[in-house]
Amino acid sequence: MNDPNGLVYFKGEYHLFYQYTVNSTSPDFPHMHWGHAVSQDLVHWNELPPAIAPDKDGAIFSGSAVVDINNTSGFFDQEGSGLVAFYTNEGNQAQPGKPQVQSLAYSRDQGRTWTKFEGNPVLFPASETPDFRDPKVFWHEESSKWVMVLAARDRVEFFTSKDLKSWSYASEFGSKVTGVHRGVFECPDIVQISVDNDPNKTKWVLILSVGDLNGESGNDPEPPAGGSGMMYFIGHFDGQSFVPDKAIESIDDIQWIDFGSDFYAAVTWNGIPHEDGRAIWIGWMNNWRYAKELPSLEWRGNMSLPREIQLKAYPEGLRMIQKPVTELGKLRNPILNLTELTVNAGDNPLSETTALKAEIIGEFEIGSATEFGFKVRKSSSQETVIGYDVVKEELFLDRTNHGSSDFHRDFAAKHTAPLKSENKRIQLTIYLDGSNIELFVNQGSIVITDLIFPDFESQGLELYALGGEVKVISLQINEITGIWES
Ligand code: FRU
Repeated sequence: MNDPNGLVYFKGEYHLFYQYTVNSTSPDFPHMHWGHAVSQDLVHWNELPPAIAPDKDGAIFSGSAVVDINNTSGFFDQEGSGLVAFYTNEGNQAQPGKPQVQSLAYSRDQGRTWTKFEGNPVLFPASETPDFRDPKVFWHEESSKWVMVLAARDRVEFFTSKDLKSWSYASEFGSKVTGVHRGVFECPDIVQISVDNDPNKTKWVLILSVGDLNGESGNDPEPPAGGSGMMYFIGHFDGQSFVPDKAIESIDDIQWIDFGSDFYAAVTWNGIPHEDGRAIWIGWMNNWRYAKELPSLEWRGNMSLPREIQLKAYPEGLRMIQKPVTELGKLRNPILNLTELTVNAGDNPLSETTALKAEIIGEFEIGSATEFGFKVRKSSSQETVIGYDVVKEELFLDRTNHGSSDFHRDFAAKHTAPLKSENKRIQLTIYLDGSNIELFVNQGSIVITDLIFPDFESQGLELYALGGEVKVISLQINEITGIWES
């Protein structure tokens, strides 16, 4: 599987559709379906049969779904509303030269069965381009219109509609922005988010995934950990066009979403009730640099934890922060709680603890140590190190020695993010789930998401300091119990 698709909340259920190569363990684009899972709380999921299958127009690539509350499409009963899904038909693999086009399907039974619209495709590219895909559709309240944003190679294009079936071109963003064209744009999203949790203060955030060049060189910067990655722009959207607050003039103006290698194609849920007000998303934990070669057998590819995104004002400007949804607390089972402990070079207060699936929340005060952190999935020959380099003022996740790496030369690497410690304090929250690591630092201002492939037996844990001491203000380790039911 790859990208999340059709994320929508409807009648008490969160829907998660996703790119799914049915009956295949390797990406098999001509056979791409939308897989389907539902949840009432974002943390317990039920797998349902695949929802949308390839057809005469091609494979079913990424897209979105909306609740058509007022039956603007006419697909539903007078009183009733239903779901409308938008996806890209990719026909080029079977018939070279066929453009990517946008199609739709509707469901009157809460996403269980889907009818493809007889007027498909509903949107063709205006010019000859091999890349015209991943429609994200949402209702724009102020202009009382549906808006579609999609990726068209070096730009995103906006379209508007009154009935979800006929679409008019509105504007583009990106073709003239320098420094962001390392790979093709994919899976765009645009969402209005509150600043510092103040519902009266909001900004629009345009979110872009940027594909990998597969080893070719390009002029523009790679994402922090290389390969494919995600960036965002903060600005204003009036229903027609997006204008960023700040012009992108150099690499330093690009805001990256994740400093690890494995968070891609994330998009937000439509239909979250106003009284909830959260912007929630989920991402594919992978990287196109090596996605087709991961050393996994029964299945390949998985989602991140669902995360809430917010904007926060910092002295250097507004920044996105991310944290796992609070619902995750339902799965928590405390196993260790430490406070006020000093760790010296050579100590390991966790030598008796093992962890395969865990939430590790630590708050530290930096003493004389030059480096400190955790080693996870550890054995005598394997470890993944998550720590802070006090001298370089750099946070890192080092998977050079995580386990099996020979499937791709770029996999074994150390991923870093610059971080100055405020008052010598640092908070690290780590989610470890088998092969998955999601690290959230200081209220989620820095996130590192990375896959690892250690042996099953490598389950040791270490809390270490180098060159001096670090004070543990508090440390909690919680077991996270199973999430998937099928
Ligand atoms: C992003 C992507 C999309 C496309 C889908 C195909 O990961 O390349 O642009 O729709 O995957 O599976």
